[in-house]
Amino acid sequence: MSKESAESKSRLLTQEYEILHEVARVLHSSQGVKSMLENVLSVLTGFDDLKVERKAGIFLADPEKKVLNLYCTLGEFSDEFMEKERVVPYGDCLCGRVAESGQLLMSESCFSDARHERRYDDMQAHGHYIVPLKTKAGSLRGVMFLYTNTNPSWYQHSQEVLLSIGGLMADAIEHNLVEEELAQYRNDLEERVAERTEDLNQANTTLRIEVAERTNAEKQLTIIREQLRNLSNHLQNIREEEKTRIAREVHDELGQSLTALKMDLVCLKEELPDQKPELQERMQTMSGLIDSTITSVQRISSELRPQILDVMGLCEAISWQAREYKKRANLQFDLNCEEVIINKEMTTELFRIFQEALTNVVRHSQADRVGIHLYQEEKQLILEIEDNGDGMAPEKINDSQSLGLIGIRERVLFFGGEVDFLSEPGKGTRVIVKTPL
Ligand SMILES: Nc1ncnc2c1ncn2[C@@H]1O[C@H](COP(=O)(O)OP(=O)(O)O)[C@@H](O)[C@H]1O
Ligand SMILES: [Mg+2]
Repeated sequence: MSKESAESKSRLLTQEYEILHEVARVLHSSQGVKSMLENVLSVLTGFDDLKVERKAGIFLADPEKKVLNLYCTLGEFSDEFMEKERVVPYGDCLCGRVAESGQLLMSESCFSDARHERRYDDMQAHGHYIVPLKTKAGSLRGVMFLYTNTNPSWYQHSQEVLLSIGGLMADAIEHNLVEEELAQYRNDLEERVAERTEDLNQANTTLRIEVAERTNAEKQLTIIREQLRNLSNHLQNIREEEKTRIAREVHDELGQSLTALKMDLVCLKEELPDQKPELQERMQTMSGLIDSTITSVQRISSELRPQILDVMGLCEAISWQAREYKKRANLQFDLNCEEVIINKEMTTELFRIFQEALTNVVRHSQADRVGIHLYQEEKQLILEIEDNGDGMAPEKINDSQSLGLIGIRERVLFFGGEVDFLSEPGKGTRVIVKTPL
């Protein structure tokens, strides 16, 4: 080898090395597939010994549809070219052939090469390098075409250099496409997360509003319930006062008048002449009538409000009421009451509860025994009324028509106490009232 050719060989090797290095750098440092490929085209068209012009382009392969899609170009191309070369089927023209064969192709002139099937009106004569962009694993990612002048003296290592550049490009395309796909996927995901978060936020706000509305409604309801309870208690008190007043008036006024009448009658009786026995008899009847009226007045007054309640307290009032019931109904009482010290209001309330429970026993239970217990346990006063009757149907306990039971419950709740209605059909009923002392 002459000294000159050795020198030119070494210069070429240096250039090859430089160009591969430059291509690798560009592939590595470019942002996005498009600018990366455009930069590679720029580098290649700057390599003198390839004899390429500043005219080149790259197709990306769509292996499923078996077409090449024009992706980027360098240099001037006509609109017609750009339009018609947008999609090139595999096997068509030079680029399609390379896509099919995967082999590099060199063509000396577009006009003399029969494989160059696509011609355009303003086409200038040119030669070609058509380079497959094939990954190391062998899959075709695209095809690159580089224009040369016609009949170039091919640079001897061009095939090896271009094929290895094509390989680098294919790997980079694959890598970038995967990355772009990943980025797209990530973006989509982020968008979806943002949308979902927004939805959730909205749902959360709606929910919060609903909760607030509900809480508000519940508060209102509690207030209304409280007002109703107060009203009911107020009415009970008025009723109780009224009853007390009427009971006293009936007892005092009527009772005293009747007693005076009775005394007058006794005096009159003494004045009556003996020879008028029918008058004596009338007088006797009158006296009997006055006695029974006095008894009625006492009963009515006691039923309205037993004086014993105010004078002797709850325990005595309960036993008195039990005795009264015993007279009228066929009931055995098992009384077990402790003396307790409570105010007048609570005495009245508990007595009325007891009366309602006892009335229920008589009216509904068919019982023949009633147990009544009044005792103190820790800081609670407990009143139990228990019968051995039919028991009450479970649905009656919370029935909105069970006004007697509702009344008991309301009275107890007003004092901050609680009440249980324990009953099973056929097993009697037990009403347990607990009030704080
Ligand atoms: N001790 C009881 N034994 C059996 N059933 C009862 C007893 N107490 C209440 N009940 C049942 O519960 C229902 C509701 O009682 P209450 O509210 O006092 O209403 P009322 O006595 O006006 O029917 C009664 O109709 C009755 O069926
Ligand atoms: Mg009742």
